[in-house]
Amino acid sequence: MEISIVKATDKDIPFILELLYDLDRPIPIDEKEIKIFKNKIKDYFSDSQKTILVAKQDSKIVGFVSIILLRRLNRAKLEMYIPELIVTKQLRSLGIGKKLMHYCIDLAKKKDCYRIRLESGNQRKDSHKFYKSIGFEQSSLTFTKSVL
Ligand SMILES: CC(C)(COP(=O)(O)OP(=O)(O)OC[C@H]1O[C@@H](n2cnc3c(N)ncnc32)[C@H](O)[C@@H]1OP(=O)(O)O)[C@@H](O)C(=O)NCCC(=O)NCCS
Repeated sequence: MEISIVKATDKDIPFILELLYDLDRPIPIDEKEIKIFKNKIKDYFSDSQKTILVAKQDSKIVGFVSIILLRRLNRAKLEMYIPELIVTKQLRSLGIGKKLMHYCIDLAKKKDCYRIRLESGNQRKDSHKFYKSIGFEQSSLTFTKSVL
């Protein structure tokens, strides 16, 4: 399977949105919210600290990863934060996620980051195995409080 990893552009937005809905997070409820989601993606294209990489099979998008470079007050180097990583359901366990994450690791080294960090819900047991298989360690607990 020939997979290429490239930076996302405007024309990829509908496919990125479709994949995002696979992540079992709240999906937009109307056109107004869809526009908000689209603008959030566009923000990644105009901010030098943010990137979306897409995995393409031929010209079809089969996965993506979003990246934010964060400045930490107690570190001279940047931290790479990965808010989203998704591979299309039909093509999981074929090495696409690993390829996307290896691209991130290379990019983090090029950007002189000190580490890559991401969160993964307690329920995502398969994803935990995936991250461990590519050398990530569980290093913290996340605490959240809804304020809706
Ligand atoms: C998690 C995810 C991105 C992994 O991508 P993928 O393309 O399916 O994973 P890969 O094929 O690259 O797997 C690489 C390695 O991870 C491990 N792995 C992947 N899926 C696994 C699973 N379901 N169970 C156990 N190990 C798994 C394997 O060791 C695999 O190596 P191998 O194929 O040589 O055995 C993908 O499954 C996905 O999109 N899941 C739903 C969304 C999600 O949970 N995203 C992460 C949010 S934190």
